[in-house]
Amino acid sequence: MPRMPADRDVIRAPKGMLDVLPPESARWIELISRFTSRAERFGYGLLLTPIVEHYDVFTRVGETTDVVRKEMYDFVDRGGRRLALRPEGTAPVVRAFVQHRPPTPWKVWYLAPNFRAEQPQAGRYRQHWQLGAEVIGIDDPDVDVEVIELLWGFCRDLGLRDLRLLVNSMGDAETRARYREVLLAYWRAHSALLGNEMERAEANPLRILDSKRSDWFEMLEQAPQLGEYLTDASAAHFMRVQEGLQELGIPFEIAPRLVRGFDYYTSTVFELASGALDAAQNAIGGGGRYDRLAQEMGGPAAPSIGFGAGIERLLLACDAEGVLPVPAARLDVFVVDLVGVSGTARLLAELRESGLAADRAYGGRSLKKQMTAADRAGARWAVIIGSSEVERGVVAVRDMRSEQPLQQEVRREEIAAWLRTEIDKAPS
Ligand code: HAM
Repeated sequence: MPRMPADRDVIRAPKGMLDVLPPESARWIELISRFTSRAERFGYGLLLTPIVEHYDVFTRVGETTDVVRKEMYDFVDRGGRRLALRPEGTAPVVRAFVQHRPPTPWKVWYLAPNFRAEQPQAGRYRQHWQLGAEVIGIDDPDVDVEVIELLWGFCRDLGLRDLRLLVNSMGDAETRARYREVLLAYWRAHSALLGNEMERAEANPLRILDSKRSDWFEMLEQAPQLGEYLTDASAAHFMRVQEGLQELGIPFEIAPRLVRGFDYYTSTVFELASGALDAAQNAIGGGGRYDRLAQEMGGPAAPSIGFGAGIERLLLACDAEGVLPVPAARLDVFVVDLVGVSGTARLLAELRESGLAADRAYGGRSLKKQMTAADRAGARWAVIIGSSEVERGVVAVRDMRSEQPLQQEVRREEIAAWLRTEIDKAPS
């Protein structure tokens, strides 16, 4: 008997990082393919960027944000370069835009793992996957509406209903400069309550606003609101976004304290929260405008907007709402070989090439065991090859849905076409 390793000897995935196994992974395929087809329908193309970037790509995301200050997985490679595992998806997209200078508007979508060394808990992981979309190079409120519509429609299509769309405007540079001053004065007046966090408030006054600390609740409630400082141009842009959402029948709430976690945000910001998830981790997607990031990265002026949605959280929300179940195992045909005939591999290849989902058992197992395997695989039909069938040039076919083990014989060379016809008649 091989020694079973003691639990503590087993090498596990790194803390806060998940494996996704079949059949659960079938939901990932379903979710991703729904997003893919929607994004492509909206005119977005897939962008793939490396998992690692130069560290500096992310410092522009916000030196005062926790994601950059405390949570980056960064390292020095053998060539002495400081690199980082991607903590979020927007900075790499802008880096690629500045590097390649594609024509604008540049509409891209992505699917990528992100790494943040956070304290893991339900819905918060050290590796999480995001589906996202970005439109680079255009400052038009209609684009803000389109990007929100893409996320909203995707979540609705998954079957999610308990959704809250929060929107706000962070205004332009002038707005934020004025607001920062007012806010900082307010924090200074509350420095006793802020304690050690006063340092963070000084570095970036906005960062305090999205805190969920209950003892700060009243202070945050009373804090001056950014909306009161919007310039006319910012207010007009935000108004047009709201009208656009109304036109499309997308319900939203204005959330005056929504400022989002990265320094690059300007103008429109939004978050989609699931009422079915715990309040602390209920954001299934979020995004906003980042009109200056391309310039900050050494590129041309390219006002932009996008969002990222966390796949793990989307699936948690689907679980909580009882939608997008794990698809049942499904196979068109299972080949049961009782004689070890050399033609089985060829038959299987023929079935698969004809477009059928086909599998078999290995290792010369008994009829009973192979039929159990066929059942477990969710096979619609079993094709059985025994010695008498081989002699007569036929195969036995069993309908796995019928209660009786009724079998019929089909000529070996006709079996692929026969199965195709049957399956087309009654697709499962
Ligand atoms: P974010 O809000 O940090 O934004 O992340 C987007 C989504 O990723 C969140 O709403 C959440 O669903 C998921 N997420 C974030 N962190 C974790 C985690 N530790 N564990 C599980 N899920 C997580 C961004 O990353 C921006 N790049 C979004 C964006 C795109 N803004 C403009 N364009």
